[in-house]
Amino acid sequence: MKVKEPLFGYFNSEIIYSMINDDTFKVIDTFNREFDLIITSPPYNLGKEYEDKKSIEDYLNIQKKIIAKLVDVLSEKGSICWQVGNFVQNGEIFPLDIFYYDIFKQLKLKLRNRIIWHFEHGLHASKRFSGRYETILWFTKSDKYIFNLDEVRVPSKYPGKKHFKGPKKGLPSGNPRGKNPSDIWEIVSMDWNNEIWNIPNVKSNHPEKTIHQCQFPVELVERCILALTNEKESWVLDPFAGVGSTVIAAIKNNRNAIGIEKEKKYFDVANNRIDAFKEGELKLRPINKPIHIPSKNDKVAQYPKEWLKLNFKG
Ligand SMILES: C[S@@+](CC[C@H](N)C(=O)[O-])C[C@H]1O[C@@H](n2cnc3c(N)ncnc32)[C@H](O)[C@@H]1O
Repeated sequence: MKVKEPLFGYFNSEIIYSMINDDTFKVIDTFNREFDLIITSPPYNLGKEYEDKKSIEDYLNIQKKIIAKLVDVLSEKGSICWQVGNFVQNGEIFPLDIFYYDIFKQLKLKLRNRIIWHFEHGLHASKRFSGRYETILWFTKSDKYIFNLDEVRVPSKYPGKKHFKGPKKGLPSGNPRGKNPSDIWEIVSMDWNNEIWNIPNVKSNHPEKTIHQCQFPVELVERCILALTNEKESWVLDPFAGVGSTVIAAIKNNRNAIGIEKEKKYFDVANNRIDAFKEGELKLRPINKPIHIPSKNDKVAQYPKEWLKLNFKG
């Protein structure tokens, strides 16, 4: 039986949102609406403070149950974007998207892209190559899914390129709105605690960082929302909402949104961020802003004098 849905806040007269402080397993059955986009970064079973580390089998069995419930509330034209990295055990890595793929396929969803989210910063590994990407599995429920490519085009590298033969010879060959952003996304990560965050003089700190250890950048969610939902009418759900990045990305782009987060401290941060956003005071990294490349004069781009003494060649 469906029970009453939680209270909603209004972003403006057309857009409604809600952050819910509860367990998704309990709350999901109370929804009596469908979502055009369910986007999340689930717990990775890494033993972070908000999760109990389990065997990979137990972890996936639990996730399977929640995903089945999520598919039930996904609209026919809807998409699920599942953003994951690796589960690590005794130095062995288990790329979670490989395991999740089967779960979604068993539920008859269709994979449209396996997006590589590449970032520059993170822990330096010593017994394997340092991990510098995570993935987003983008599945749809049917073949009639929303895909607004024009909303997310990026500037062409060679806009002056022309057709060199045929009836269009001499005319521009690209799209004036820009090119398809492809399935490799270069978006700045916020998992900088171990390096950038501790280095003074770095000017390019990520403006969105909060107390959450595994926050994803709002611009990553924005690209999915712009492409996979419709302005003013679509509903977006994040079942593991953390500090509310999805809800912020949704209301920023005039979509209705619900985020569910079980930990009160992240839920509180989420609400504070949403309020700050509504007041125009939340610092956000603008979508599609080029990634900072340090100039030769930046201290962090120079060889430390201690290394120069060792006569290393850069
Ligand atoms: C990887 S984090 C997501 C962070 C989020 N993408 C952001 O940008 O803030 C996963 C979150 O899911 C929450 N979580 C884990 N199990 C949950 C459950 N059963 N119900 C609701 N939230 C849960 C955790 O507390 C954690 O904040």
